Amino acid sequence: MDRPRITIFDTTLRDGEQSPGCSMNVQEKLRLAQQLDRLGVDVIEAGFPIASDGDFEAVQSIAASLRRPIIAGLARACTGDVDRAWQALQGAARPRIHVFLATSDIHLRYKLRITREKCLEQARESVRHAKSLCADVEFSPEDATRTDVAFLCQVVEAVIAAGATTVNIPDTVGYSMPEEYGNLIRTLRERVAGIDKVTISTHCHNDLGLAVANSLAGVQAGARQVECAVNGIGERAGNASLEEIVMAMRVRPDRYPYETAIASEHLYPSSQMLAEITRVPVQPNKAIIGRNAFAHEAGIHQDGMLKNPLTYEIMTPQSVGVPDSRLVLGKHSGRHALALRCEQLGHQFERRELDEIYRRFVVLADRIKKVQDSHLLELIQDVVSGAVSSDVTGRQGKKFPPAAATLPFPRAVSATAGANANDSHPAHVSGSAGQASVSIPFTDHHSEQEDYLWGV
Ligand code: KIV
Ligand code: ZN
Repeated sequence: MDRPRITIFDTTLRDGEQSPGCSMNVQEKLRLAQQLDRLGVDVIEAGFPIASDGDFEAVQSIAASLRRPIIAGLARACTGDVDRAWQALQGAARPRIHVFLATSDIHLRYKLRITREKCLEQARESVRHAKSLCADVEFSPEDATRTDVAFLCQVVEAVIAAGATTVNIPDTVGYSMPEEYGNLIRTLRERVAGIDKVTISTHCHNDLGLAVANSLAGVQAGARQVECAVNGIGERAGNASLEEIVMAMRVRPDRYPYETAIASEHLYPSSQMLAEITRVPVQPNKAIIGRNAFAHEAGIHQDGMLKNPLTYEIMTPQSVGVPDSRLVLGKHSGRHALALRCEQLGHQFERRELDEIYRRFVVLADRIKKVQDSHLLELIQDVVSGAVSSDVTGRQGKKFPPAAATLPFPRAVSATAGANANDSHPAHVSGSAGQASVSIPFTDHHSEQEDYLWGV
C-alpha cells in the first residue's frame, strides 16, 4: 500500500537564519540552497524579501538557480510585503508566497493592536492579493496554538476561501504538547469547510524540546507538510530538526508510515555545511548528525557493537551520510583518504584541485592533529572560491580548535573509559593519550533482511 507523502518544507534559510549567530550572506544562502536541493527537500523557504535587500537578493538568486524545489518567500499580511515577495520570486520555476498574520489575542492586543475582525479581514485580503499574483499561496496564523480555537477555525476557513493552498499551523512559542497539537489539527479538519482541499502544515518551535514530537503528532493527525530546519536551527530554541523528522519516519515506519523525498545520505553533509557556513557548531550529542551520535564509549556497549551493531544502533551511520570513522584524517593521511572523505562530503575534485586541498590540509593537520569534516568543508570552500592560501592559514587560529579539543569521531568506539571489552579485536588505535579512539572494522554491518530497520 502506498504511504502518504509528506512534503518537507525547509526553513533553514528563513526561520533558521533568524537565530542568533546564524545569519548568512547571499552567496552562503545560495550554496546551502543547492545542498538542500541535493538533499531532496520539497520546498525551500529562501527568505523574507521585505526584511532587507540582502534577503531579497538571496530569494531572487535561489529562485533563479533552482528549478526542482518550490521556492517560498515570506510576507506579512500586507500589500507591500506580498508585492516584494512576488518580485523576488519572479525567476522561480515554482514560486510560493507565504503570508503570515498573528491570530492569538495576546499578539492582536499587544503586538498588532488590532481587533479580531480586523485580523480576519487583513488575512483574507492579503491572501486574496497574493493569489492574484501566484497560484501557490501558504497562510500561517502566527501563534496558532495560543489562538482561540473557534477564531482560528474562522480565519483558516476565510483564507482557504480566499485561495490559500497550504495552511500552516505554527506553534510559534513552542508551548504545545504533542497530544494537544495533534488534537488541534484534528479539530481544524473536522470544523473548517474546505480544509480537505488544502495541505495542512506543521511549524513547531522547540522551546520545551517538543518541536519534533509535536510535528510528528501533527502528521499523525493529518498534516501533510512539515516545516523544519537543518540542525534544528530557528528562533530561540529552534525549529523542528529536519534530520530527526525524516529519520523518525524512516526508522519507525510501523508508527509513522509516511514517505519523504529526502536522500538521507545527504543529511550529515548538509548539517556540516550549515555548521561550516554559520560557524555555529552542532552539539555533540545531537540526534542523527551530532559527533557522538554513532560513538560508543561504555565497555558493555563497545562489546555489543563489536558483536553486532544492531545491539546499540538503530540506523546505520551510512544511511545518514556519516563517513566511515575508520578514516581518521590527520597529518599522516594520504591523498586517497582525503579524496574519499571529500567525496563522502559531496565534493569530487580534479587532480590539481585535490593537490591544493591536500597541501592546505597537511598544514592544517599539523596544527590541529585531527581534521573534522567541518574544517575540511571550510578548506574546500576556500580552495573552490579561490581564497589565498595565507588567508586560510591566517584564519585557522580563530576558526579551528587546538589539538586538545579533538573528540571521538562519530562511530568511533572510544576507549577512554571502562575496560575495552575486546582487547583481542584487531582494532586500530589512534589519537593522543587520554583521547584514544578505536576504530572497529564494521564490514557487513547488517544483513539485507535487516535493512528496513536501518533506514537504508
Ligand atoms: O513561528 C512562526 O510563527 C513563524 C511564522 C512566520 C510561520 O515562523
Ligand atoms: Zn517560526
